[in-house]
Amino acid sequence: MIPLLEVTNLSHSFEYNLFTDINLILNPKESISIVGVSGSGKSTLLHICATLLKPNSGEVKLFAKDLYKQKNKDILRMRREDVGIIFQSHYLFKGFDAFENIELSTLLNNTKIDDELIEKLGISNVLKQKVGELSGGQQQRVSIARVLSKRPKIIFADEPTGNLDSKTANEVMSILFNYTEENNAALLLVTHDNDLANRCNIKCSL
Ligand SMILES: Nc1ncnc2c1ncn2[C@@H]1O[C@H](COP(=O)(O)OP(=O)(O)O)[C@@H](O)[C@H]1O
Ligand SMILES: [Mg+2]
Repeated sequence: MIPLLEVTNLSHSFEYNLFTDINLILNPKESISIVGVSGSGKSTLLHICATLLKPNSGEVKLFAKDLYKQKNKDILRMRREDVGIIFQSHYLFKGFDAFENIELSTLLNNTKIDDELIEKLGISNVLKQKVGELSGGQQQRVSIARVLSKRPKIIFADEPTGNLDSKTANEVMSILFNYTEENNAALLLVTHDNDLANRCNIKCSL
């Protein structure tokens, strides 16, 4: 089996050393959780694996390709077509309504709106509302719908349940785990929730 993500001897620092010698392997249908105190570098590690930030040293293989040795246009294509990133701060388009935010992702990726997914996420009744009118939890679920609508091969989720009550959080996580399982995809999850971290196949503490 070829891993979807393989991280070897990864180290990164800004003003000070964040992490050294991280090694991870993520196969299809698998999930890995990244845990650690605030400021330990969880988001930075996620961004590095998700094509967004070149590390100081070490290797990141995504879909068996040495990620940061690819041409810029190939990295961009990988990011657009195969990588799903659920950001801590959503990055939805504020001027658009919820439906348009999700639709944009399907138009760019030649996929279809998944009504069942929208129903399961509990956002059917807010689709016509502008993003700015939605609660944090609703925005979080719209951003998850947007990411899954592009049918990514790997999902990077940065505290995707941070704004949700525990019941909704569990439902949302089941959607992410089921997607991974059913589509031979993989999930890298940053979370503060220990129970949730333990639901993943592998746990990495920073
Ligand atoms: N682009 C950046 N430039 C400089 N420092 C950064 C940058 N991004 C993050 N940091 C710093 O790196 C540390 C880890 O940040 P982050 O990865 O967001 O941690 P976490 O997600 O675990 O809370 C923080 O001290 C943060 O200020
Ligand atoms: Mg973070």
